[in-house]
Amino acid sequence: MAHTDSETVAEQNGLVKWIDDRFPLTKLIKEHATEYYASKNFNFWYVFGVLATVVLVMQLLTGIFLTMNYKPDANEAFASVEYIMRDVEWGWLIRYMHSTGASAFFIVVYLHMFRAMLYGSYRKPRELIWIIGMLIFLVLMAEAFAGYLLPWGQMSYWGAQVIISLFGAIPAVGDTLVEYIRGDFSISDITLNRFFALHVIALPLALVGLVVVHIMALHEVGSNNPDGIEIKKLKGADGVPLDGIAFHPYHTSKDLVAIIMFMMIFLAVVFFAPEMGGYFLEHANFEPANMMATPEHIAPVWYFTPFYAILRAVPNKLGGVILMILAVMLPLFLPWLDRCKVKSIRYRGWIYKLALTLFVISFIILGWLGTQPPNALYVLLARITALIYFSFFLLMPFYSVIDKTKPVPERVVYHA
Ligand code: HEM
Repeated sequence: MAHTDSETVAEQNGLVKWIDDRFPLTKLIKEHATEYYASKNFNFWYVFGVLATVVLVMQLLTGIFLTMNYKPDANEAFASVEYIMRDVEWGWLIRYMHSTGASAFFIVVYLHMFRAMLYGSYRKPRELIWIIGMLIFLVLMAEAFAGYLLPWGQMSYWGAQVIISLFGAIPAVGDTLVEYIRGDFSISDITLNRFFALHVIALPLALVGLVVVHIMALHEVGSNNPDGIEIKKLKGADGVPLDGIAFHPYHTSKDLVAIIMFMMIFLAVVFFAPEMGGYFLEHANFEPANMMATPEHIAPVWYFTPFYAILRAVPNKLGGVILMILAVMLPLFLPWLDRCKVKSIRYRGWIYKLALTLFVISFIILGWLGTQPPNALYVLLARITALIYFSFFLLMPFYSVIDKTKPVPERVVYHA
């Protein structure tokens, strides 16, 4: 007998009820989507969290398919990647999506972090969201580093060689630690195997777990907004923040536009410029790893180069390693370094605006310097820009206090 529409709906509701009696499905959907109220004035900068989630899923899916044909063996790894590129059906697409996805991940995450710096999203009560975010960032760096060894090209090998040997600068335990990480006296098949294990299971698991906790922490306190106002302070009679709108369908429909735009740009890169002139896939990595021949110029992929430039700017190896680690870790302390009365850049004075601009410029210059051979002029430039980078954070407790602020409005600023 044919079902009527109302019967189907009733059956669905019956199914949902059956699940709800056993698992909090409707409760979760309400809590995190249809009754999660986020500010109505979200702008462009608020799409990068969702885009980071999209890239994460894309990396996981393409990664699974790559693993089906990749061989984590020093004698076969390079050839297995070539096999994926030439013989596996759609292998080229899967591989280029994954390699481009790595760079896209960092672009999106850097912009996501920058948004937090624009609007003070790391400030109370969102410190934990920020701390978890920083953990995600560290795991993401480890994930990208481990992944880069897998194609077993020249830069995979020598890049890993340079970075792993940095641990040797640690007094007393350095050399033992280096051997422990490699699992051998040099980078070898054993190293490749453990990096494979880390890249395909341990780190992605940590990443996904951290992202879940990140979003749970966000939904506990509620999203910030471009005005840096706590919308929960002003609620209507129904208990809904006056400036809040339901995440689903209002924000999800806008996010969908961003996802489509992003995928268009992303796929254009995948199809037309997957190497991105050697920035996304380095030229030296098209040659198999050769432990007897060092490439003329060793540089990590672009997303590590700001920190690499800081490392090279210090003549002493241990000093360089310490400064590099400091450069990576300093943003973690932003919630306590920033002592301004207001959160959003909209109501801050010229000092923070100038400081943030200089910070961005210094980060970009450092990134470029890290890709170049370190001649005397570039090292000098790296020192100056590194000084600006560190000053942004270390002087913040002072300049964020003296900076003149503007009055923050009661309600968020929204123009339909
Ligand atoms: C895999 C990487 C990441 C994913 C999937 C992710 C996901 C998200 C999502 C979906 C949101 C809510 C939407 C939005 O506000 O844009 C969010 C908010 C936030 N994230 Fe992330 N995130 C990631 C990495 C990071 C990192 C590295 C940081 C900082 C170190 C960070 C800091 C924040 C902060 C502070 C918020 C709250 C922003 C606000 O309410 O204004 N996230 N994240």
